[in-house]
Amino acid sequence: MARINENFLKLPAGYLFPEIARRVQTYLAQHPQAPIIRLGIGDVTEPLPPAIISALQTAVAEQAHRATFRGYGPEQGYEFLRQAIATNDYQRHGIEIQADEIFVSDGSKCDCGNILDIFGSGNKIAIPDPVYPVYVDTNVMAGNSSGLDQNGRFAGITYLEMTAENQFQPSLPIAPVDVIYLCFPNNPTGAVASRETLAKWVEYARANRSVIFFDAAYEAYIQDDQIPHSIYEIPGADEVAIEMRSFSKTAGFTGLRCAFTVIPKKLMGYTQAGDAVALHSLWHRRHTTKFNGVSYPIQQAAAAVYSPEGQVQVRERIAFYMGNAKLLREGLLAAGFRVFGGQHAPYVWLQTPQQLKSWDFFNLLLEKCQVVGTPGSGFGAAGEGYFRLSAFNSRENTQAALQRIQAAF
Ligand code: MLT
Repeated sequence: MARINENFLKLPAGYLFPEIARRVQTYLAQHPQAPIIRLGIGDVTEPLPPAIISALQTAVAEQAHRATFRGYGPEQGYEFLRQAIATNDYQRHGIEIQADEIFVSDGSKCDCGNILDIFGSGNKIAIPDPVYPVYVDTNVMAGNSSGLDQNGRFAGITYLEMTAENQFQPSLPIAPVDVIYLCFPNNPTGAVASRETLAKWVEYARANRSVIFFDAAYEAYIQDDQIPHSIYEIPGADEVAIEMRSFSKTAGFTGLRCAFTVIPKKLMGYTQAGDAVALHSLWHRRHTTKFNGVSYPIQQAAAAVYSPEGQVQVRERIAFYMGNAKLLREGLLAAGFRVFGGQHAPYVWLQTPQQLKSWDFFNLLLEKCQVVGTPGSGFGAAGEGYFRLSAFNSRENTQAALQRIQAAF
């Protein structure tokens, strides 16, 4: 008898974004002509910059010749990309992260789920609420929760509420935790963390021998020099934090797939007996065993992000999406909505009108405006009564969506 992982049975039927897609499909089946505008899942819409396309084409052409053909690459990523990341994202900013502390992968979504492989069972896990749903769902799959309670929360997980009342800044847990997820700029609220806030978390982790998973997928959208892009800007963070970054939102790689996780060599986890073990070596073992690396052309495309032209072109696209975010934020504020985010992140977080439940507002917006967004409750119980609109779309569609919402509410 083949036994299943029964933890999966604790999860609600569908993952958030396929569930949204399913509901939109149902609506479209009944209204095939509906001019739907999708501001739901945060998927980029602008074509890849020329510098990236050119690197991709060159690398693909190399595969056609015996002399330049490449088969399996290093599982952790090619040296040229790891070094470009270490130099440009870290060392240039005074952060001592080395190339061999960087593990290239095909996505932060996969990394933040897979990382649980190297952590034991019985860890107390703290997760912001609301937040990217992958953190909670993968912990449930891994058996770190006993099931959903009547408040829509998983027993055993410590939820760190991010609400308008606390300016979307989660408080330190009351009871000690072993693993802490932080996501800044935050998905979905768009909140950012100051240096002081991150220093508080690093201090907590050091005092409790906890590990922080710092998801920095949206760091490129930060518009203020005072806001840290990396948790390693905080002294001592390299002893307590894993950082995940992605080329998806930074450079439009949602279709190409490339990301990386940083595991400093100083970072330790502990055996049951309390002996320290370097997480770097465990992840190295896991990554080289279960993963064969990102394809060579994609890694060359990612390296091109750091070229002078690549940097200019990527920044132009980020500025473009942030223009959409500004439009949405200001337009919704003018229409009387209570609005957050959209200043250092490509997401605008709004309170639903008339205290509507998040999914009710989703249905209303779809029916009245043919605009698709993401219900806040899909990101956690504390997101109930909120709604997320993504800035990833054309200017024309963003403007049209805003006009429809302004006219309807
Ligand atoms: C989101 O919309 O929250 C993200 O696009 C989902 C993801 O990055 O997987």
